[in-house]
Amino acid sequence: MIRRLALRTAAVAGVVVLLVGVGIVAKAWWDSRLPGTYSVMDFGEPDFGGGTEHAGHEGHGTANGGISVADLHGPKNGKPDARFELVAKSAEIRLASGRLVDALGFDGTSPGPELRVRQGDLVEVVLENEDVEAGVTIHWHGVDVPNAEDGVAGVTQDAVPPGGRYVYRFRAEQLGTFWYHTHQVSSKEVKRGLFGVLVIEPRDEPAAPVDDLVLAVHTYDGIPTINDSDQLERQQVSPGTPLRLRFVNTDSFGQQVAIDGAPFRVVAIDGTDLNGPTPLEGRTLELAAGGRIDIALTMREPVRITLLKSNAALALSTDGAGVPAEQEPGPEFDPLTYGRPAPTPFDESSSYDRRFELKVTRKPGFFDGRPGRQWAINGGIYPDVPMFMVDEGDLVEMTIVNDSNVVHPMHLHGHHVLVLSRDGVPASGSPWWSDTLNVHPGENYVVAFRADNPGLWMDHCHNLPHAAKGLTMHVAYAGVSTPYLIGSEHDNAPE
Ligand code: C2O
Ligand code: CU
Repeated sequence: MIRRLALRTAAVAGVVVLLVGVGIVAKAWWDSRLPGTYSVMDFGEPDFGGGTEHAGHEGHGTANGGISVADLHGPKNGKPDARFELVAKSAEIRLASGRLVDALGFDGTSPGPELRVRQGDLVEVVLENEDVEAGVTIHWHGVDVPNAEDGVAGVTQDAVPPGGRYVYRFRAEQLGTFWYHTHQVSSKEVKRGLFGVLVIEPRDEPAAPVDDLVLAVHTYDGIPTINDSDQLERQQVSPGTPLRLRFVNTDSFGQQVAIDGAPFRVVAIDGTDLNGPTPLEGRTLELAAGGRIDIALTMREPVRITLLKSNAALALSTDGAGVPAEQEPGPEFDPLTYGRPAPTPFDESSSYDRRFELKVTRKPGFFDGRPGRQWAINGGIYPDVPMFMVDEGDLVEMTIVNDSNVVHPMHLHGHHVLVLSRDGVPASGSPWWSDTLNVHPGENYVVAFRADNPGLWMDHCHNLPHAAKGLTMHVAYAGVSTPYLIGSEHDNAPE
């Protein structure tokens, strides 16, 4: 009798445990579903990085005297020095091999028009969406524009629907190689071709003419290209001409480029000139997804630029015919020790107002109702990711840790970060400023930036499918809030 009672109790207990277990999993599943409409301010854990804590970071109203991102715009008045109109539309593009790609492009091309402006210019860009059903925006990747010009659907503006338009205005204060791309459903729309290159040139003409070439690397329908050519292109350059080649990786994964035939110098990374770059030979350049590298060389012997694991290449020669043979790819270029040190506004010994850690891992769980191995930031699966809170003027240190087995090109909007160290080894070359930092498996970087551009800024992986699956968070300035919503009227979906 007693025995039977004990058995029955055990059975009941087992069922209860099972039900509780199912209940916990069901709750995790239920809780992970993203609401149809939400503000990025309403989720995530505020992380103050050991600095001053502010209450009331939540909610997207500006009731407590806060600033709306919509008010953090570029100059409203003044005649633009450079003005462009870009029409986003579907386009059929033909690669050099003859293959047709069903693409999306600005002005019917991909890459879109190459925009060139001068440092200091007031730039105005009118975006029109002709027929891109899901909507479009333009994000100025690497340009530290005022927040309302940043082009993030559902955070700094509403996506522009077909028939709609939006005007961006900002002053081009930096110098170098940048790119622009849609930040609405970016994991799909950028892949299909909605991007272009932006070059900010020095105010003054160079003393001697420079041949300045952009090489945008992109994969269309699985076919790797340089400037939408999927084969070897030849170009003639007069002997003795100084060349500046600007590599832009618009793909969602790293790309490697080999330069054979001549020594070259790496003169800029992510739109920032390097100090004292020395000649390199037989080096492979690794381009982070979203990252840019500029090299300089002088035209003498033929030079071959090869996009590894592809048929795309560019041969430069004085007669337009010479093509050096492809060599075994050399060792990878490493910015950590390259070039000469120079003074920086802060370094490892500065006193930091906030120190954050951004640690990427993978773990089992639910993302938007789907079970699987998910990306996590500091242990939380999106939207339970941290929100790094800063005050304007703060000096911020950030440690980025990649505890997963794939590379993550981490991109902070609105700021450039100075690399202090990698895996505990201090940067010892030229100051290395980055906006898109390739963090390889097992690596950690310590970087620093000045919080000098108030707003609500995305910080995400530029492997855009990773971002769409949750590798997305924000750096938020205290008191700034957004009136825009993810989801909602225009179906804002930045990733
Ligand atoms: Cu180039 Cu948030 O993107
Ligand atoms: Cu990633």
